[in-house]
Amino acid sequence: MNILALLRARFKPVLQPLADDAGPLLEMIRPAGDPKFGDYQANFAMGLAKKLGKSPRDLATEVVAAVNVEDICETPEVAGPGFINLKLREEWIQQQLQNAKTDSRIGIEKVEAPRTYVVDYSSPNVAKPMHVGHIRSTVIGDALCRTLKFVGHSVISDNHLGDWGTQFGMIIYGYKHFADKDAYKAAPVPELSRIYREVRGLMDYFDAKKELPQLIEKLAERTAEYEAAKNAPEPADKAEAKKQKKEVGRFQSQIGDLNEAIESTKAKIAKTEDSPELKKLAEAHAEISTAVLQETVKLHEGDAENIALWKEFLPFCEDEIKRVYERLNVTFDHQLGESFYHDRLAAVVEDFERRGLAKESQGATCVFLDGFKAPMIIRKRDGAFLYSTTDLATIAYRMEHWKPDAILYVVDFRQGEHFDKLFAATRLWGYTDIELKHVSFGTVMGDDGKPFKTRSGDTVGLEGLLDEAVSRAYKVVSEGDERQPDGPKLDEAQRKQISETVGIAALKYGDLSQNRETDYTFSYDKMLALNGNTATYMQYAYARVQNIFRKGEVDIEALRSSGATITVEHPAERQLAMAILRFSEALDDVLLDYRPNYLTNYLFDQLAKSYSSFYDQCEVLSAGTEEQKNSRLLLCDLTARVIQQGLDLLGIQTVDKM
Ligand code: ARG
Repeated sequence: MNILALLRARFKPVLQPLADDAGPLLEMIRPAGDPKFGDYQANFAMGLAKKLGKSPRDLATEVVAAVNVEDICETPEVAGPGFINLKLREEWIQQQLQNAKTDSRIGIEKVEAPRTYVVDYSSPNVAKPMHVGHIRSTVIGDALCRTLKFVGHSVISDNHLGDWGTQFGMIIYGYKHFADKDAYKAAPVPELSRIYREVRGLMDYFDAKKELPQLIEKLAERTAEYEAAKNAPEPADKAEAKKQKKEVGRFQSQIGDLNEAIESTKAKIAKTEDSPELKKLAEAHAEISTAVLQETVKLHEGDAENIALWKEFLPFCEDEIKRVYERLNVTFDHQLGESFYHDRLAAVVEDFERRGLAKESQGATCVFLDGFKAPMIIRKRDGAFLYSTTDLATIAYRMEHWKPDAILYVVDFRQGEHFDKLFAATRLWGYTDIELKHVSFGTVMGDDGKPFKTRSGDTVGLEGLLDEAVSRAYKVVSEGDERQPDGPKLDEAQRKQISETVGIAALKYGDLSQNRETDYTFSYDKMLALNGNTATYMQYAYARVQNIFRKGEVDIEALRSSGATITVEHPAERQLAMAILRFSEALDDVLLDYRPNYLTNYLFDQLAKSYSSFYDQCEVLSAGTEEQKNSRLLLCDLTARVIQQGLDLLGIQTVDKM
């Protein structure tokens, strides 16, 4: 049961005759911001009255007289200029809790019109180790899949692996030129990683050498522009003068950025040139960037040796990511990587050409799209296909085989333009009846305000990140504190096991609790804090309830199925009850724009906080009467079950003790 949806459904027949589209009016029925206005509030009367030429208060009074909510609410109140305040009846609340008590879905109904979703997430480029950047796509995608499924949609998860790109050209080149074959035989994955890093390092070095003079030239240009703008006579017009000042500031900050870029580029060059060994290696592989591209092209053209190497390497790469997914408890229905679509790409381009949707421009095949400056290239001049071509082929395949109503792409915000174009091209291609959504996310930052890197400046490997979170969780669990007394008493094996759950949970929740579109600063301390909006706190709240049951020797399952009833007389009980019953609304909020942080907000700000004040104000085990004790135990139980279900939708497990 979803209270908001229920109330809106009751108002609908009253509002429909009054407006062409009742939808926006119904959306103006919302949870009340302040409990003194009741539980829900409707403020459509003000706007609507104007259109109908009535006084808002009169209109609100008429609506209140006509609407049928008696069974749910006390008599609605018209307040101020025409607000309608709705307060739920105590008996009704109690009845809903009663229903939830024995319901495995805690009262959450499935959607009336289930849709089919394809969720494209994680999708790392394999052949290089997974890094911190992959955590976001993986955990956000997983949480969305779980939530969509729970509310009744069909979900097809697909890990669109980058298993066919330049990174394979890189390891093929590296394998041919500087692999330690014995090391590879003994342990292929570490050796492949080493090769990848070596090739990457050389390519970065040559890129940096190429870039440096360009940066220096740009700096000279900007400096000249800056001088000119600074020394120009100040315009008499105030607005013009302001504009000029702004421009000077802009040049100044660009100069700052360029200087920074020059420094880091120089450092990259020095790293190789200061080491005689690396310098010799670089001299021996001066053409590495072209050579890597050639190896990639040969692979795509079906060269027998490169295909054989690719086939040999790929399973190692897949095993590598599988280990991470197992630890994260993430699974996929499909793992159709880029290579799967290779044979379909030519047909995609031909189809675009045949329908007159693509044109040749400077030898390349391009799709020109309204509203975009540059076209989308689907075949390069040299005949090579692109990331975009693969994505088009992927859409066609998904449509043909899975017939989805929506495809969600959980991918870094930097690919925004790619997806804008891809979606426009897809519509042009004729797929108009599908929701295509780039569920975009920002960057994980370090303390220094820059993308999170290790001290030596390397990207942070995902496995190392998991290990560190788990080892810090172990400390938190082992130390315990006065409110979290179990940990230190547990034996080593239990603590280890709990730490794995708590550590991974902290990492996931730390990510999911952020607005996905903004960058966030990574901090182990913050995400493992026992206070605040963290998984650790939510898991602790859950364990605390289980502790009450243990202490009171309560057989909670028996109590659930007994005739014991729930009453909500104390204001703190009522507030907790409302929080429990609003779980369904939180799930709606998550799915409206695919934002898991609405669920973490709900769990922390509404549920956990209401529970805390309930626990502070209402005796549970030592309640005045047996009825009251049972009612409160059942409220505790519902709270714990919503926490458990909510965390489960985020891909997070609970523990009974911590
Ligand atoms: N492999 C790509 C990357 O790491 C992400 C793929 C996202 N999915 C897609 N269908 N394009 O950047």
